[in-house]
Amino acid sequence: MRDEKQLRDIATKMVVKGKGILAADESTPTCSKRFDSISIDSTYENRNEYRNMLFTADNLEEYISGVILFDETFRQSTTCDDKIPFVEYLTSKGIIPGIKVDKGAKDLAGFKNEKITEGLDGLRDRLNEYYDLGARFAKWRAVITIDNDIPSDACIYANAHALARYASLCQESNIVPIVEPEVLMNGSHTIETCYEISKRTLNVVFEQLLLNHVMLEGIVLKPNMIISGLDCDSQADADKVAEMTYKCLKENVPAEVPGIAFLSGGQSSDLATSHLQKMNDKYKNDMPWNLTFSYGRALQHDALNTWLGKNIVDGQTSLLKRARANSLATLGEVV
Ligand code: 13P
Repeated sequence: MRDEKQLRDIATKMVVKGKGILAADESTPTCSKRFDSISIDSTYENRNEYRNMLFTADNLEEYISGVILFDETFRQSTTCDDKIPFVEYLTSKGIIPGIKVDKGAKDLAGFKNEKITEGLDGLRDRLNEYYDLGARFAKWRAVITIDNDIPSDACIYANAHALARYASLCQESNIVPIVEPEVLMNGSHTIETCYEISKRTLNVVFEQLLLNHVMLEGIVLKPNMIISGLDCDSQADADKVAEMTYKCLKENVPAEVPGIAFLSGGQSSDLATSHLQKMNDKYKNDMPWNLTFSYGRALQHDALNTWLGKNIVDGQTSLLKRARANSLATLGEVV
């Protein structure tokens, strides 16, 4: 039975002012790519050591409300003598454990260069197991690509429908769904095109969420910011990004949603923080939802590059520095 109060409470805690979400749910191939960049072997043990370094950073809970885990990490433990399961360890720190449940973005049949996220088959059973093991929220990422003549309506509708079915199944299991429709920043498109495609995507996503009886008070939206394509000749500045992102969300995200936690999507760590800070500073008096972060790369980049497989304390210091800067950004403040 769906417990609406519990869903509302967890969602509200995930996006509480001053805190955000650490996305540490890289699949094994993605984690291996990150490890390649620092010449570390992506073994089961090294992945465990890396996540242990992140999660055991002192007072991480001051800035981080929840951590998204990949299935492998969800079943791993701290590497100290008493080997506490990560889920139990994070919960004891007051950090909510979450789980990535999608099975990745695959080629969309009949459409060139477009993706559909898979993972609905058997999802109900997987969610029930994750709940029993301590997960209180989940994540599903849909990917929308901008290029000549794409995204197609078929791609937007298929992904929005899958997001809505996932979200409905999560709520049935009393797990808060992070709904993540990511419009990629790859490409030479302008910020205006990013705005138009993101608006279209958000509209279809909320249409499908409502059609599938998803309770909006019990979700967290994880969108891209509205930014210029990576290869666009004219790059919009931080004020423009803040203005257009806020406008797009204000006009297309219902006020019932308790919070919006951005992905970083390949932005530099500094820009991801600065964009969030500007939005929370400029529009703080006219925001129906809390605006926070659910960054992967923008929180981990410095930590990974100082850790280098051995410098645990330095890695943790880098993570805490980034987490604190983003925590302040949710209040519209700078370090
Ligand atoms: P990035 O912040 O690196 O985009 O990762 C967030 C995430 O969870 C992607 O699904």
